[in-house]
Amino acid sequence: MIQVKDISKTFVSGDTKVKAVNKISFTIDDGQFASIIGRSGSGKSTLLSLLGGLEKPSAGNIEVDGQDIAKMGDHRLISYRCNKIGFVFQNYNLVPNLTALENVMLPMEFAGVSRSQRKKRAETLLEQVGLTPDQMQRKPGRLSGGQQQRVSIARALANKPKLILADEPTGNLDSNTGEMIFDLLHGLAKSEQTTIIAVTHDLSIAGKTDQTFQLHDGRFTGR
Ligand SMILES: Nc1ncnc2c1ncn2[C@@H]1O[C@H](COP(=O)(O)OP(=O)(O)O)[C@@H](O)[C@H]1O
Ligand SMILES: [Mg+2]
Repeated sequence: MIQVKDISKTFVSGDTKVKAVNKISFTIDDGQFASIIGRSGSGKSTLLSLLGGLEKPSAGNIEVDGQDIAKMGDHRLISYRCNKIGFVFQNYNLVPNLTALENVMLPMEFAGVSRSQRKKRAETLLEQVGLTPDQMQRKPGRLSGGQQQRVSIARALANKPKLILADEPTGNLDSNTGEMIFDLLHGLAKSEQTTIIAVTHDLSIAGKTDQTFQLHDGRFTGR
């Protein structure tokens, strides 16, 4: 379960202050698929960065799987990001000179999994997201956008995370492919009991998730 209480993030540059996230609270149960919608600049990416331990909140608590990440030191945060969180980005962020298979194996290497186990799990995950054995051996540049996003979802799942954070995962895909990617994420939330929080512009996609949060100027305005 994820319990967020009164988190804020204020950015200061010079003498201007931006309250990117302003006293937000919410709870999401395990295996739930939540979406976040809101205009550009409303604080969506900042909120995901706080949940993923990439940014420290200026105030508030963030409890993921019983641990308050707002209180963690840098060392524990690194291990939190590696073991509890899977990230999916709009631009896929795959390593260009590694094959799809090697990209999925990489986070397991950081987690200390043996080579044979890494390969076996990466193949299983890539099969689960719909890649053929031939596609698994290709580098990202030789895969379509939708296929690259499937690889990045498999990579996000590699270390069996409690939480997947996806920042506009369908932003570079046509609407049909985007819908397929969302359906895939939805199925995974249920089969792996992984909580997923995804930012999206697509209201028809957001309408299909278990919970929708709308952000405006760093605050929730409705759900
Ligand atoms: N590292 C940063 N330094 C200063 N301001 C930032 C930083 N990151 C985001 N902001 C500001 O915080 C607000 C929210 O940004 P962001 O979370 O990226 O919004 P969204 O993802 O909804 O487009 C914006 O006004 C943005 O300019
Ligand atoms: Mg953003």
